[in-house]
Amino acid sequence: MTPEAAPEALRYLAGFGNECQSEALPNALPEGQNNPRTCPYGLYAEQLSGTAFTAPRAQNRRSWLYRIRPSVTHEPFHPLNFPAETLTADFRHGVITPNQLRWRPFAIPEDSVDFVRGLFTICGAGGADRKDGYAIHVYTASANMADCCLANADGDFLIVPQLGALFVTTEFGRMHVAPGEICVIQRGMRFSVDLLDGRARGYVLEIFASHFQLPDLGPIGSNGLANPRDFLTPTAWYEDRACAYTVVHKLEGQLFSAAQSFSPFNVVAWHGNYTPYKYDLAKFCPVNAVSFDHPDPSIFTVLTAPSPIPGTAVADFVIFPPRWVVAQHTFRPPYYHRNVMSEFMGLIRGVYDAKADGFLPGGASLHSCMTPHGPDTKTFEGATAVEAEQIAHLPKDTLAFMFETYYTPRLTCQAMGAPNIDRNYYQCWVGLKSHFDPSWTPSKAAAAAQSATAGSKVPAGSAVEEAAVLEQQQQSQQRQPNGK
Ligand SMILES: [Fe+2]
Repeated sequence: MTPEAAPEALRYLAGFGNECQSEALPNALPEGQNNPRTCPYGLYAEQLSGTAFTAPRAQNRRSWLYRIRPSVTHEPFHPLNFPAETLTADFRHGVITPNQLRWRPFAIPEDSVDFVRGLFTICGAGGADRKDGYAIHVYTASANMADCCLANADGDFLIVPQLGALFVTTEFGRMHVAPGEICVIQRGMRFSVDLLDGRARGYVLEIFASHFQLPDLGPIGSNGLANPRDFLTPTAWYEDRACAYTVVHKLEGQLFSAAQSFSPFNVVAWHGNYTPYKYDLAKFCPVNAVSFDHPDPSIFTVLTAPSPIPGTAVADFVIFPPRWVVAQHTFRPPYYHRNVMSEFMGLIRGVYDAKADGFLPGGASLHSCMTPHGPDTKTFEGATAVEAEQIAHLPKDTLAFMFETYYTPRLTCQAMGAPNIDRNYYQCWVGLKSHFDPSWTPSKAAAAAQSATAGSKVPAGSAVEEAAVLEQQQQSQQRQPNGK
């Protein structure tokens, strides 16, 4: 890597969804208009539209690119068959199952496989042809995309590296994206991925429908969660390089390639509000319960791609970051539940607080619409022990995430038949035994809790005292018909 391409040498523009402009050469942007008869430096003007021309102003996305040669200058596209078995945007014939699913870490290929060849579709819904729905992929790679770029006409890629930092070159500039960060490459943007650590693994949420946006904050107020200023857009960078270059174009899940005689990263200047961007998940400001009860995981939403139904996403990107947990009288891990939304989870590092075993970095799990799930047996037993009431910090080296979607996923055959699928996943809940005791009373429960904390002084107003008072009140009501 040249010094000018070192991660610390890259420059970014801060903010989310802003109108930005960037020049790699002074005065490369036309003054006062988008498309003059001749552009500065003899550049070609080219617009990239991320929404229909007539989309409402608040949603309208487009950028103007000023480049050495226009992107139309290429040989005809031809179908590219190499990854057809692993990449798809057609889920009409996908596998449907209500079972809980989990995969152990996906293997990094031993042979030379780049980011595009290493894309492996797990599941999805809807279709790229109707620009509705999504796909979820895993990528594993061991090689750079040498003189090759990808443009995805099907939608936006939200890339979540889990292993190995990525050097992402785009028409808008270059980004360094390490595990713990994400980047979004929006529909149609040409980009190329180099591996800074020689190998890489991660997850991709592809949205066919809308673009990602920040979630509304409601009563939280105007700050918190993912703050807009922490999203970074690359600055203009170009190379004027003659070479045998391959442009790969993805359309309805199929790949096509075209040859051209120059690098596509020849944009000297650009302006607009349709750009790639990155975000450091360590900058996420979590909001959580400070008294009791476990909030819904939506409190950790980083980005959302809305559906036409208010408050309901085609897909949300949610993280479970390191944080203090202080809720008392509370079962602190995620509660047992069944959800109208389907949940795909991955683990970037560490140990997720709902699964003591089996959910590993680089692996994944999927719980579809109304499929019951929750903490495994070991986690439940630990979280209901008395000592679990202490204020704690979830391990600082743990970072899990979830793609949560309203559209029930259909799985690819390759995902269902993958050698790393965990066919014994269901057994992590089999040990959940009945604790039902029909003779239970509040005072007995409190006495048991006190005995479990034997040796500790029970202060006035303690759970034992409160339980005894409550029990007396209940017994008094039972003695009086209708509670009178
Ligand atoms: Fe869940």
